[in-house]
Amino acid sequence: MQTIRDPAELEALTSSERAPGETIGLVPTMGSLHPGHASLMALLRPRVDRLVVSVYVNPLQFGPGEDLERYPRDLRGDAALCREQGVDVLFAPPDLYPDGFATSVEVHGLTDVLCGASRPGHFTGVATVCARLFGLTRCHLAAFGEKDFQQLVVLRRMVEDLALPLQIVAAPLVRDADGVALSSRNKHLSPNERRRAQSLHRALSHLRDAAAAGTVQADALLDLAQQHIDADRIDYLALVDAHSLAPITQLQRRQPARALVAAHYGQTRLIDNVAVEWI
Ligand code: PAJ
Repeated sequence: MQTIRDPAELEALTSSERAPGETIGLVPTMGSLHPGHASLMALLRPRVDRLVVSVYVNPLQFGPGEDLERYPRDLRGDAALCREQGVDVLFAPPDLYPDGFATSVEVHGLTDVLCGASRPGHFTGVATVCARLFGLTRCHLAAFGEKDFQQLVVLRRMVEDLALPLQIVAAPLVRDADGVALSSRNKHLSPNERRRAQSLHRALSHLRDAAAAGTVQADALLDLAQQHIDADRIDYLALVDAHSLAPITQLQRRQPARALVAAHYGQTRLIDNVAVEWI
């Protein structure tokens, strides 16, 4: 495995590789890698000739007062996990933006709701860094996790709207044995917060099961879920159309829907979601 720190070096490498017809896959990350990230690498590995993983804690997607400074960093552990997953290139730039960088990519509408409502500018930061990473790596495939469901929807929209020459591959959400969605931020939870955080998945599972059993009114489903959540503060709990992210008032048969939650435990904000279907 090759570790590259300089964006220009990565660009030179991937442009020489793209020419002879090699397929390039990218897994963008902010590091502190765990089995959720590894699942994205495992998904792409058999589908590409060259697998690139980027590790970059992107300041553009953190708002003032958010956790940029305390975001966990562990490049040595990240390199070991990437090696285990058969990654060809670990791209870990100290800085990703050139002097004079002046562009931002804004995906309207989809970014104002859910996480976007409490994190203004967050998804513009995500879209901008991903657009730059797609350009630098010239990737044919890029993998993103359903853990960050809204991010996935926003990036699919960006790729389609800008006709970017790559395909986005979605990976299912990976959970720990206790049901908590794997996240780099889980490191900040106290044992008590960790135990209480299990309620997020439990609540969403109750909602999903009630929908499958025929409860179709969103109010009833959301009330049910809310009763099971044990958090310091719920940022949002929502049932939305899986493509448009528009709120659903009543489930329709076979309409892909998603239940999503964001909640605070002390200083830590966690998100989770499940697919919901009335079959
Ligand atoms: P990060 O939080 O490091 O996540 C990198 C990728 O791993 C994302 O696609 C995320 O959805 C996926 N992922 C994280 N935890 C997961 C889990 N438990 N199950 C499945 N997939 C999981 O998301 C970001 O970084 C950044 O916003 C980024 C896209 C890199 C742009 O900076």
